Amino acid sequence: MYLLIPAAGLGRRMQSSRNKLLLTLLDKPIIAWTLKAAEASEQIHWIGVICQPEDLVDFQEIVANLSLTKPVHFILGGATRQDSVYNGLQSLPAMAERVLIHDGARCLVTPKLFDRCALEILNSQGLIAAVPVKDTIKIVEPQTNVITNTPDRCQLWAAQTPQGFEVELLQQCHDKGRYQGWEVTDDATLFEQCHLPVQIVQGEETNLKVTTPVDLALAEFILRQRMEEQLR
Ligand code: CTP
Ligand code: MG
Repeated sequence: MYLLIPAAGLGRRMQSSRNKLLLTLLDKPIIAWTLKAAEASEQIHWIGVICQPEDLVDFQEIVANLSLTKPVHFILGGATRQDSVYNGLQSLPAMAERVLIHDGARCLVTPKLFDRCALEILNSQGLIAAVPVKDTIKIVEPQTNVITNTPDRCQLWAAQTPQGFEVELLQQCHDKGRYQGWEVTDDATLFEQCHLPVQIVQGEETNLKVTTPVDLALAEFILRQRMEEQLR
């Protein structure tokens, strides 16, 4: 399975001076944890890391230090995640029929989740990992900050990555999205807007996206727990 890793963000919400994926979590940069999980997956055989030119040298060094057995290709990112994934799709080998897309910032992903998504996508056109929402979610009128609706929680899922797609279909959805000026934060949304089905695969509660400083502390805690479990 082909894997694209969008890693070309700025990490503004992390309030860090550079790409948050270069910040250290325990003894390794965030992106290294994501790559280690991809390396350990049985199904993934090709990895494309999408990054900004100013981060390229650091990313190359991180990849070299990991001594991965799988080929890692570097692809130039764009101004938005959507643009970055678009570039990633252009850079896939012509023979790639299906692809998984996984945010570099979801560095706690397990090899098992990669494998589950990689196997499931063989039988569907599009899928995403997601978990049931724990909070009650309110729809709020932005001008007044008054609640207008409370959707039934049974129908709400929190979207994660990996997200998997048939490559040709996703390329068509990206092209349409560009033409129509759709601005989306994940690839499933493009699929939905094109009226294509997106299947849910059970995600993992620990598969958080490192976004704000508190996520760094949480991620560190979860990684330490995992290491202790391995020692037991
Ligand atoms: N991403 C990307 N290209 C961009 C913007 C984001 O490849 N132009 C990637 C990020 O590197 C990240 C993933 O998309 O792995 C999810 O994005 P997010 O968590 O929003 O990361 P940032 O955009 O870096 O953070 P922020 O929105 O706080 O600036
Ligand atoms: Mg962002």
